[in-house]
Amino acid sequence: MPLLRLSSAVQPDGSLKLRLHNAGEPISGFHLCFSLLSLAVVVSGARTVRQVANFLEVAPEPEVPLGNGESWELVVAYGFERHHPANVSWGPQLPYVALADGTTIDVEPTPLDFSAVEPVAAPEPLSPEAPELSLIPHPESWAAGIGSCDASAGFRLSPEAPNFLQGAFQAVEALAQRCGFPPWVGPGVTLQFESLDSADSEEAYALAITPGSVTLRAAHHSGALHALISLLQLRQTGGGSLPCGVLQDQPRFSWRGQHLDCARHFYQVESLLRLLDLMALLKLNRFHWHFIDDEAFRLELDSAPELAQETASRGHHQRIPGLFGGGAGPLGGTYSQAEVRTVVEHAQALGIEVMPEIEIPAHAWALLQVHPEFRDPEDESREQSVQGYLENTFNPAVPEVWTFLRPLLAEIVSLFPFGVVHLGCDELPPRVWEQSPAVQRLKAEQGLETTDDVQEWTMRRAAELVVQSGGRPAAWEEAGRGQQGGMGHGGILFSWSGQGPGLEAARAGYEVVMCPAQHIYFDMAPTPRPHERGMNWAAYVRMQDALEWHPVPPDEPELEERIIGVQGELWSETVQEDAMMEPMLAPRILALAEVAWSSESRKRPLAPFCGAAQAFEPIWRSLGWNCGELI
Ligand code: ACM
Repeated sequence: MPLLRLSSAVQPDGSLKLRLHNAGEPISGFHLCFSLLSLAVVVSGARTVRQVANFLEVAPEPEVPLGNGESWELVVAYGFERHHPANVSWGPQLPYVALADGTTIDVEPTPLDFSAVEPVAAPEPLSPEAPELSLIPHPESWAAGIGSCDASAGFRLSPEAPNFLQGAFQAVEALAQRCGFPPWVGPGVTLQFESLDSADSEEAYALAITPGSVTLRAAHHSGALHALISLLQLRQTGGGSLPCGVLQDQPRFSWRGQHLDCARHFYQVESLLRLLDLMALLKLNRFHWHFIDDEAFRLELDSAPELAQETASRGHHQRIPGLFGGGAGPLGGTYSQAEVRTVVEHAQALGIEVMPEIEIPAHAWALLQVHPEFRDPEDESREQSVQGYLENTFNPAVPEVWTFLRPLLAEIVSLFPFGVVHLGCDELPPRVWEQSPAVQRLKAEQGLETTDDVQEWTMRRAAELVVQSGGRPAAWEEAGRGQQGGMGHGGILFSWSGQGPGLEAARAGYEVVMCPAQHIYFDMAPTPRPHERGMNWAAYVRMQDALEWHPVPPDEPELEERIIGVQGELWSETVQEDAMMEPMLAPRILALAEVAWSSESRKRPLAPFCGAAQAFEPIWRSLGWNCGELI
């Protein structure tokens, strides 16, 4: 039995009433520490001892001891308009008590109680319909034949299969094994190979399935891989049998991505490999690895080893406090260069490229705890980020910043063979650099007028360093701003706050990946029901929202050339254990795959799509993946 328990309840005005109950020895002179999902302020019953964005350390006000059987009540409230508690994720995470002697006691929280607020209406249930084909994403064409082909005893390759098909076959064999599927290789069905016109897209393939044979056509490794993955999925959803028919397929978009925030929560490499396997099953081919943010810099770099060493763990006696469920810690971890290679090689074997992200110039609070010299010491701006961090932005007018970034970016390019490096650039805090004499001088020297121009100058310079190192830059939508049209340098922009900024960037000539928060931010809760987990600042994202949107506006089809893809995001503020990513991604990641791959005319309406999502159930089961509710 824990001796200290923290209950929390949402009050009708949206504030949180917290109650610390002591069932053990009396404590005095103590502080209560916990994190929330965003900046919060004390309303009553306590004084703030320390606050870093979502982390609070508070003491009773007036200061009284807490004897056995006694309770202390305090009220806190989320501090920003866009953050209001919607579900259990919004309660205190990993609370603990810190005593004056430096020791800490873990406190057991109870789930955030919503009984004092209006209950939310039950969402309309979905009405799945049997799909024409239980394959996600839906292929370019499918002509159903008669009967089925028993593939339960596995596949063998015909001896004349080309090397690229042999390689893909082995990769799928290993994937099937890791996924817990029945053996892939066996005496069941011989795969016949026919060449596809090599002028076809590298990703194109065709399958002809009859009761006694399967013929596969592809011209390249990636087409062969997609063909085999389709067979693998069909066999799983068909209980060992494949439906007979002719299938022709190729993707709509070349960039079919999934992002994972490993800064707010540290994921074990094993969990990343599991995600890559799932992505491969859905023909997703870009992994956006986000491991640097305000809370941590997790990449072990030779050019800056101190960053991972000093920021990867958070907790009471750490440089980084117990942000986002860090508790008393130490909690966290780093990614070594050997682990980066493991992730990259695992991904590449499945046709997935890995794009790392480094955050420039904001979202750098952790980095700045180690390198405060990257700010202008005379800057009095005291900028605050939308997550509540104070002074989380480095100053591009400080020469040391560039001495630091040059080798760091070169090393990152060298570690990730894909070559595309995402440079961040989201959410520059309001008022940043306004009081910096160094930035005033930079503006005068470079003819920069606005803060956007300073950001643009910064991003252009960082992008140039990536190009000089042999890479290609990418960044969030904000990098399109400024008097020269933004970052340039062949950069790819990621449209996240909606589709508007991405459309503007595409019209201006950028290649764009669409990842609108209202549709494919999987950290958004699906509905306002209190038992769910997730954020809500952009929207509640149900399956329908993830499926029914147009990456390219139907009345501007010419933008298809520049909108190179779509990408789901999973920010990890509400994730405290690796497995928590599963019900946030699944089943909605199925809709991402359909939008990313299937043409507008082939993307299924909600009802048959949900039927196909239901048919995916045996796959979740084999994977041991905790799929959330189909809602
Ligand atoms: C973002 O969600 N700030 C890219």
